[in-house]
Amino acid sequence: MSYLWRKKSLDKLILEADDNEKGLKRTLTAGALIALGIGAIIGAGLFVRTAAAAANNAGPSVTLAFVVAGIGCALAGLCYAEFASMIPIAGSAYTYSYATMGEAIAWIIGWDLVLEYAIGAATVSIAWSEYLNKLLAYIDMRIPYEWSHSPFETDPISGVGGMMNIPALFIVFVLTLLLIRGMKESAFVNGIIVITKVAIVIMVIILGWGYINPINHTPFIPEASVFTDSQGVDHNYGGIMGILGAAGVVFFAFIGFDAVSTAAQEAKNPKKDMPIGILGSLVICTVLYILFAYVLTGIASVEDFRSTGKEASVAFAIQTYMTGYDWLAKLVTVAILAGFSSVILVMLMGQSRVFYSMSRDGLVPKVFSEVHPKFHTPYKSNWIFFVFVGAFAAFVPGDIVGDMTSIGTLFAFMLVCAGVWIMRVKRPDLKRQFKTPFVPLVPILGIIVCGAMIYGLGWTNWARLGVWLLIGFVIYFGYSVRNSKLNKEDK
Ligand code: ALA
Repeated sequence: MSYLWRKKSLDKLILEADDNEKGLKRTLTAGALIALGIGAIIGAGLFVRTAAAAANNAGPSVTLAFVVAGIGCALAGLCYAEFASMIPIAGSAYTYSYATMGEAIAWIIGWDLVLEYAIGAATVSIAWSEYLNKLLAYIDMRIPYEWSHSPFETDPISGVGGMMNIPALFIVFVLTLLLIRGMKESAFVNGIIVITKVAIVIMVIILGWGYINPINHTPFIPEASVFTDSQGVDHNYGGIMGILGAAGVVFFAFIGFDAVSTAAQEAKNPKKDMPIGILGSLVICTVLYILFAYVLTGIASVEDFRSTGKEASVAFAIQTYMTGYDWLAKLVTVAILAGFSSVILVMLMGQSRVFYSMSRDGLVPKVFSEVHPKFHTPYKSNWIFFVFVGAFAAFVPGDIVGDMTSIGTLFAFMLVCAGVWIMRVKRPDLKRQFKTPFVPLVPILGIIVCGAMIYGLGWTNWARLGVWLLIGFVIYFGYSVRNSKLNKEDK
């Protein structure tokens, strides 16, 4: 069983690094890293999952859930940064773990990242579909409920059942095409999107503050009970469990900040800039998220978020309760559609990159690393993931894919926290450009806080994660162990 621990040599990793990766210039300042982080983070988690967490889990105390999720991310983020700074090439947690912790752990992380990237992209595309319908409603149009929802959903108002989420499938299709053509978001576009997203959040906070109805905030932490949603699913509502469950749900809003750690090689002064970049973007987003959640749950009630305001909740709250601010509701809707598109694009790209690396290592079939003769993109992989992501986008409810993304990412974060600690003990000699402070305290606390959020997500989500990992093990032992490049080299 020693193959489980075989590691990829660092020299080989560096040799294999893409040409454009090899000569990465150290140009990013702490400020640029913060912008990168914010650009990757603010999205469906804030604009869609906040209301869902308030409705199903925590009521107004979803505000506290953001504090818990933010702390968990900060702890894991510090570990991520050390991990990234040990390997002198750009990559993902998969790449780092293959060189440091061995093939089995690398496989688990790579497989788990499918939940973060591919299923995450499906989640945001479903949120995109909600806001597209909102936009169409402004011109008195609407995609019928059955063609903009999965078969597992029923309209709480009309009782109509869903069939297929066509707009969600559509946006995944369009972005897959762009990805295949080699479209990347430029720093300029990213900058505009960051400014728009932050501006929208700040506007909602400031303009909405005066419309907070104290009744909606009372009691701030609802009494513990069980809430059964319109799909017949039970949720722990209120109390500590409600807050932990909501933290697991809104954790989605923080996903993507690890993008900052992957830029470790491009930072001017990684020692100083990485922690500022990671913690800075996290602190800014956490503060904005807390205020935003406080305002949103103050404007509309939990009952709203369970019925008419269940979808496109932010635009709904503004339109319904903030008279005279119709323009804001429209602006928010358009900005959100653009912002979500960029998040989906980044997630789809992240997914194809991870599978590209895994395929080059022989852990998944070659088809995932075959590049297009003209566009030089892994187009076959992009198409396969279009089918995979599209199937989830079209036929699974947003709540389910959202929670699967959260639990998968939380699990990967726990492994990264453990990994940093293990590597400190086993390989203290490795050079680290950035060192996590207070090891093992920070990794241990990271594991505890992320574990608590996994606990809060409840047994259906644990079961889904378990099944996903089980499928992963079957593929690993059935295919990857034999086809691994390292296996061939051993012989
Ligand atoms: N954090 C990203 C979002 O909320 C994934 O959409």
